[in-house]
Amino acid sequence: MLQAACLGGLVASGLGSTGCSLKRGQQYEAAAEETWHESDFTKGSDFYRELVRCATLAPSSHNTQPWTFKVQPGAISVLPDYSRRCPQVDPDDHHLFVSLGCAAENLSIAASAAGLHGRVSFQDGCRMEFEPAIRESTALFHAIAHRQCSRCEYDGMQMGTAELKLLEESGTSDSVNVLLLTDRRKVESLLEFVAQGNRAQMGNRAWMQELEHWIRFNETEAVDSRDGLYSRTSGNSETSRFLGSLYLRVTMAAASQTKTDVRNIRSSAGIAVFTSEANNPRNWFEAGRAYERFALQATALGIRTAFINQPVEVLNLRPQFASWLGIVGRRPVLVVRFGHGPAMPRSLRRPLAQVIA
Ligand SMILES: Cc1cc2nc3c(=O)[nH]c(=O)nc-3n(C[C@H](O)[C@H](O)[C@H](O)COP(=O)(O)O)c2cc1C
Repeated sequence: MLQAACLGGLVASGLGSTGCSLKRGQQYEAAAEETWHESDFTKGSDFYRELVRCATLAPSSHNTQPWTFKVQPGAISVLPDYSRRCPQVDPDDHHLFVSLGCAAENLSIAASAAGLHGRVSFQDGCRMEFEPAIRESTALFHAIAHRQCSRCEYDGMQMGTAELKLLEESGTSDSVNVLLLTDRRKVESLLEFVAQGNRAQMGNRAWMQELEHWIRFNETEAVDSRDGLYSRTSGNSETSRFLGSLYLRVTMAAASQTKTDVRNIRSSAGIAVFTSEANNPRNWFEAGRAYERFALQATALGIRTAFINQPVEVLNLRPQFASWLGIVGRRPVLVVRFGHGPAMPRSLRRPLAQVIA
């Protein structure tokens, strides 16, 4: 996916119009602050809208937010919004169901903080039925408002065994395993899969068009839509859609993307690969839940994470990647790097009125 290398040449200098009385940056900052704040479930009693807000803070592929929430007495359903599919980067919808799993995990953790236990049943999305429970305001709950995908260079430092153990435990469930790769030679040999993935994706015109559709090249686009990939969250400059699109079409090349990915991967403490026991929506959903716990645990420990999913997104790379991992009969679902690094600008979320059915 597009990262810091790509739009670096397009310095903003007034190219993206703000169309608003707030100064450049302020409009976006105001929206980001409105989006990212901790919930307080010790006050009030009708928590359901607030639970949905916590769920929407989950990550989603291309920040499509492919979910709809149905709120009923005693239950909330997290359902797929297929109008937000990305058939090029995610032809089998596995990212879509992973994203639903991430949202459901936030919902479940936030419900515990509200004194509710959520019982989950899955059928093309999930229904969570609530019953009263002891209020549990955990470190993972507090991390919901601070987690982000940090697409930047990390500090290259290794991680301690205790931290790795906590990450591994949080990313494991009945049907999901997480493999933590920290051996430098193993990580180096992953780079070829990323390079091959970039060549396949960026050499595909339809894939690039889909990416362009979801990029928000400037603050106005990001604030208007409150979804998609805002250029600054990947360390890129703002520009107009016209110039950004031109740059993507004419200049952007797999080689420069791979150079950035290699630098970012080498700066990371390790790579986490999430695998599921079967290849179906339910297992992808469970992988999303496990990944979200991992990301929240990492956030609670001050550790950053970012996806490098090319080896699982490109269909004909997946089997080779699985045999390189040495996993038999399991499906690699997500590839994530982790380490210590700086915070990046936050991405936005659509308002509740747009996601509650
Ligand atoms: C299933 C899934 C796949 C993703 N794949 C990638 C990826 O390949 N590359 C990347 O940079 N980000 C990837 N992301 C991260 C999203 O772009 C990110 O979650 C979204 O832009 C919102 O940003 P935030 O997580 O910082 O709030 C993925 C997220 C999910 C849930």
